[in-house]
Amino acid sequence: MSEHNDPNLPVAAAEPIRDPGLPAHVPRPTDIDPKAERRAERQVAGFFLASMLMAVLFCVAYFTLDLGKLEDDGTRKATDTFIGLGASNVALGVTLGLALMFIGIGVIHWARKLMSDVEMSELRHPAASSEEDREETLAALQAGLEESGIARRPLVRNTLLGALGFVGLPLIVGLRDLGPLPGKTLEKTVWKEGTRIVRDVIGTPIRPSDLEVGDLVNAQPEGLVPLHHEEDHREGVEYLEGAELQVAKSKASVILLRMEPKDLKHGKGRENWAVEGIVAYSKICTHVGCPIALNERQTHHLLCPCHQSTFDLADSGRVVFGPAARALPQLPMKVVDGYLVAQSDFTEPVGPSYWERDSK
Ligand code: FES
Repeated sequence: MSEHNDPNLPVAAAEPIRDPGLPAHVPRPTDIDPKAERRAERQVAGFFLASMLMAVLFCVAYFTLDLGKLEDDGTRKATDTFIGLGASNVALGVTLGLALMFIGIGVIHWARKLMSDVEMSELRHPAASSEEDREETLAALQAGLEESGIARRPLVRNTLLGALGFVGLPLIVGLRDLGPLPGKTLEKTVWKEGTRIVRDVIGTPIRPSDLEVGDLVNAQPEGLVPLHHEEDHREGVEYLEGAELQVAKSKASVILLRMEPKDLKHGKGRENWAVEGIVAYSKICTHVGCPIALNERQTHHLLCPCHQSTFDLADSGRVVFGPAARALPQLPMKVVDGYLVAQSDFTEPVGPSYWERDSK
């Protein structure tokens, strides 16, 4: 019996796997045909130019297409839509996506058609790199740089640099959406004399008798709670929508708390700001602006969940604990036609303290 047919020998010893080696190198058309090479170069440049065009179209779409408004039934006008979505969003997403995609396709095409196409093999060796290996790596990187032809192909190099530069344009243009600096925006809200105080979300006006001692209610000025049926709108009240509504609401939100009138300490000049033991304060914490709503019923203290600033609603919103530097702004109230209304806007800015404001 020959060694080859011995059934007691392990298979590997009987039939060793031979190293198949590398397949024969087949040059690409671009390796042997200068015309094909130039054509591939122009194709790569074409992708980078297409990327630049998409970046420019992004900017055009940003400035020319209307965001479109949602109708009451949740749909948009036909002119504001594109396959049922906001035309502006679709155009911005598509153009930016294509700008990035064309750069990617261009780079892949460059690597497949024009960069060096030499097969290499290397035996495995221990992971730790020797000094010699590091030098070899650096040399290989240098060779790769030369083989990429970036120095020899100014058309590809320049269009790639152009595409990378242009694709930054949408990011710069998008900075415009950061909005204006706050300026004095927190110094005024939509509250004014006679504005009805209504419950948040449902928008119903509030009578003093609706609240029992200890009740805490989130409230808004009338006109900031969008009513879905126009017939529910009250004459003479301006109902805001969209971004205007969100901005106004974020500044004007208040909380009402009813306590025993004997527990209230009226601050100087605030003797008539409460109604039958009901007080109204801004809902925005004066530390860094979290919405406040945790009430300690026994003490009339209101706690901010973010950093535990605590305000005494029985004593002009005074800070009794925590990092807030100012009392909560109080909204002066009165009763008209049986309902709670504001006497005026807040008498001080709402929201977090900022550097140009005195802390009081
Ligand atoms: S935001 Fe209220 S304590 Fe910091």
